[in-house]
Amino acid sequence: MSLRVMPHDSILGATVVGLDLADPRTDAELELIRHSMATYGFLRFPDQNLQEQHMVNFASEFGSLEINVATTNRDVPFPQVMTLSNILEDGVKIGFSDAGQGWHTDMSYSKPIALANMLYGVKVPVRDGEPLGDTQFADMALAYDMLPDNVKAKIANLSAEHDFNKFWEMMRAKPGSDRPPLTDEQRTEKPPVVHPIVMRHPVSRRRILYCNPGYATRIIGLSMDESDDLLNLLFEHQLQERFFYSFKWTERDVLLFDNIRTLHNAVPDYKAHEHRLLKRCQVMADEVVKFSEENSFVYAD
Ligand SMILES: [Fe+2]
Repeated sequence: MSLRVMPHDSILGATVVGLDLADPRTDAELELIRHSMATYGFLRFPDQNLQEQHMVNFASEFGSLEINVATTNRDVPFPQVMTLSNILEDGVKIGFSDAGQGWHTDMSYSKPIALANMLYGVKVPVRDGEPLGDTQFADMALAYDMLPDNVKAKIANLSAEHDFNKFWEMMRAKPGSDRPPLTDEQRTEKPPVVHPIVMRHPVSRRRILYCNPGYATRIIGLSMDESDDLLNLLFEHQLQERFFYSFKWTERDVLLFDNIRTLHNAVPDYKAHEHRLLKRCQVMADEVVKFSEENSFVYAD
């Protein structure tokens, strides 16, 4: 196996070399990638040259692929590949320009949850030699470990509600947003769901603080005031810089990140004429976890 995993000198991340993601992979390579993603939180595969078919082939190795509820045109060859971009073609947007701007966990508003997200950096804005539009990560295994014991005890058996509409409305409230309100059909497709706040990672088995300011709306069984207080405490804790890593893009990078282990945030520090284009596949956790009605396999014991 020519694949090599080189851990970054930081709390998260490793670079994987010796693998062309346009080619098929061996079972041993896949196993190493699956475990490395859980160990390091995200993996960078530099110098890739992929078509959408290659992205779908690689991402599908880890679980089924989601077609996002916000994707209105599904009559395309690869609706599982979402375009994130600020580029206009003939005055028309070619993708979601404000996607992910704010700390969140993809698909926490869903049952089942997502395992991983694959991003492909097609166009990266650069100013004065510095790449813009970092993708930031926050380590929720470390954040859980660093919680005070009394908070760990308090949340051990609590669950939170997650609602897709919360993040959508936060994006709509930003200046210049042209997102329409969700339709009744979209709300029906993604109703709020409930997940335990402490989850055991299905691969690493580490405990994860599975709560995020993007989608978590309330804690089940508490009064609204108690719920707000505890959520704010958790949000403040998990967004400490000591848990952060800011990933700087190079064009043709593929990023595969663990969506249970990490929160992420897209940094909007580039302007309209500074073009950015990422392609994305969302991998559900159905391959690593056979979900029961309560998702009990992944929840901490
Ligand atoms: Fe996201």
